[in-house]
Amino acid sequence: MKCLVIGSALIFFLFCFGETASAATPPTPVPPPSRVLTSCYMCHSTHGSDPRFGFIPRLAHQSEVYIEEQLKAFRDGSRSDPPGVMYMWPVSEALSNREIVAVARWYASQPAPKPHLGGRLSAAGKVIFHQGILKQDVPACMSCHGPDAAGSGIYPRLAGQNVEYLEEQLRFFKSGVRHDKNADIMHMIAIHLTDRQIRAVAEYLTTL
Ligand code: HEC
Ligand code: HEC
Repeated sequence: MKCLVIGSALIFFLFCFGETASAATPPTPVPPPSRVLTSCYMCHSTHGSDPRFGFIPRLAHQSEVYIEEQLKAFRDGSRSDPPGVMYMWPVSEALSNREIVAVARWYASQPAPKPHLGGRLSAAGKVIFHQGILKQDVPACMSCHGPDAAGSGIYPRLAGQNVEYLEEQLRFFKSGVRHDKNADIMHMIAIHLTDRQIRAVAEYLTTL
């Protein structure tokens, strides 16, 4: 009986606390950093879900660490695939470390984008993502990118990414033209994938 009284008193207390806390702190909308409003939005959109073209990546809900790493890699010239050089080199050279932290935090905290529709190879891509291709020395992509392709730390989120961007990056890893600090890991995987398998896994990832 004592137990019940304590138990219900605790629930009552928690309930009250919850009520007070939410009443005292209404959600304050955080404004985007100024760089997002003056630069990034033009190509990536303010919330990072609706980039202007398919070869421009979605940044919403991307790993914060990964965004920072890539901006530094564009800035120091180590990520030098052609669209990176053309579009992101001029943008990133103007960014201070502090601005890189701010824009990465902004895009990482935006809601995950709505998935795209897949294609006729999506089902084959699903198998590659979850199981890899043993006879071609391709590990399961989910072992690094996570079972839902949500990414974490240096491993990028791939879920819901534009199919055109995903396919292009896998080709860049394969040819070695994208060779920034952590790209070797992907080079060793992409060299074992055929163009059709690259397309398949990209078609699957865009649906997540
Ligand atoms: C003129 C268009 C343009 C502008 C402006 C622009 N970007 Fe980009 N961004 C691109 C393109 C195109 C790519 C793909 C580059 C590639 O294929 O290597 C890209 C790639 C990136 C990537 C790599 C993402 C990944 O998944 O690897 C990050 C991070 C990024 N941009 C952040 C930003 C931020 C932050 C800003 C603003 C400070 C910005 N971009 C402004 C066009 C732009
Ligand atoms: C051993 C760990 C590992 C495995 C397994 C792995 N990846 Fe990756 N992947 C990475 C890392 C690390 C990066 C970031 C590379 C960089 O910073 O340049 C990456 C980057 C990528 C990118 C670039 C994303 C972007 O936003 O630019 C794509 C696409 C990708 N991986 C697809 C795949 C696919 C498809 C598979 C399975 C066939 C796979 N990965 C398996 C570690 C892995």
